Amino acid sequence: MSDLPHRVPVWDLPLRLFHWMLLTSVVAAAISGFLLPLNWLNLHVIAGTAIIVLLLFRLVWGFTGSGFSRFSSFLFLPRTVLAHVQALRRGETPHYLGHNPVGSVMIFALLTVLALLAITGTIVLGGAEKQGVLKAIVSYATGSFTRELHELLAYGLLALVLGHVAGIIFESRRSGINLARSMVNGDKPSPVPQSIAPPRIGAAVAGVVAVFLLGGSAAYAMWRLPAAGVPHDALASAYAKQCGDCHIPFHPSLRGRAAWSEIMTSLDDHFGEDASLPDAEVQQLSDYLAQNAAERWDTRAANVFRGPEPLRITDTNFWKRRHAGIDAAVFQTKKVGTKSNCEACHGDARAGLFNAQAINIPKE
Ligand code: HEC
Ligand code: HEC
Repeated sequence: MSDLPHRVPVWDLPLRLFHWMLLTSVVAAAISGFLLPLNWLNLHVIAGTAIIVLLLFRLVWGFTGSGFSRFSSFLFLPRTVLAHVQALRRGETPHYLGHNPVGSVMIFALLTVLALLAITGTIVLGGAEKQGVLKAIVSYATGSFTRELHELLAYGLLALVLGHVAGIIFESRRSGINLARSMVNGDKPSPVPQSIAPPRIGAAVAGVVAVFLLGGSAAYAMWRLPAAGVPHDALASAYAKQCGDCHIPFHPSLRGRAAWSEIMTSLDDHFGEDASLPDAEVQQLSDYLAQNAAERWDTRAANVFRGPEPLRITDTNFWKRRHAGIDAAVFQTKKVGTKSNCEACHGDARAGLFNAQAINIPKE
């Protein structure tokens, strides 16, 4: 226990609320991102949105909060940080009420990596999932590439969080001050009484209103725009009828033009069945498929199933890899029946969407 005589209100209430709400959101984002199945994507998006809102608040509070909440109170020169490390090495115990110089580097690193995670996450959501505020402007290729960055950053954040916790334990032991507790009740013991600059409430409210009004309306306007490269129309009824007789009507976006053309010119030997149709109908369906084939769209399904080979969707590497985790017996159940019955597990298969949220393996 510390025997320092004075208690100083170091962390104001908004900062402490920010801290614990951020922790909760990061835990939810990490669990849904690393551990839960794809169809928990909504939880991940909600946690990510909460993190963005909290970071924007922190940005405003960093200029308007009480003394130690302000960025300027823990903006140290690299030289000061080094000097602090050297002092610790010599066994000295420099006392800082707010963040010490090493701790402050950690705080800025955490905030920066979180901001980058929020930005890359929004890009992935827009491009690879065709959802969220960037769905109208980010391509699948960009979203899919950004996913790698997002994952790297997520591992980086895990490492930083571990470092942050280790730092708190180390510094609490060293100083005899329970730092986690002061993030709960706000106080820290101090050798001398110290007054803290009060928050600038007016400026904080104005900042929060401005940031959320501007950011919120821009985000809403972007979110209202239709997703780029995503099919919106229902399947043509002639196609759904003729090609939905023996199996579900596969969305035209699930194959490229070359594959459809090959399928349509060999209907008399259609995967072992005779699916012949009158020439006029073959022509009409071929035109429809060519116009709406994968090349026209930018969804994940269109991008991964675009290649000409193999003819079967379920023989493509992507399909096999993504469904490898599913027990083979599941495909034999009454509700599924066959691998090609996409609709049994993808509620939006007929629309060609294959959104993560719509995945649901039917229970027996
Ligand atoms: C007479 C019944 C029949 C009709 C009509 C039919 N198909 Fe098929 N189709 C099959 C069978 C059987 C398979 C093999 C399914 C399996 O192995 O699970 C198949 C498979 C497919 C596949 C590959 C699915 C996979 O597993 O990846 C595609 C694509 C396909 N059909 C497209 C079409 C199109 C386009 C039409 C309309 C012109 C059509 N089919 C009409 C019977 C039919
Ligand atoms: C038995 C249920 C089942 C069937 C049938 C099925 N899928 Fe899936 N599919 C899944 C599951 C579960 C996942 C998620 C796998 C994972 O966690 O990576 C998935 C993932 C996918 C993805 C990636 C989605 C994403 O957000 O990354 C695509 C695309 C896809 N399936 C297409 C198809 C197509 C096309 C068919 C039909 C030819 C099909 N699936 C049939 C269960 C099924």
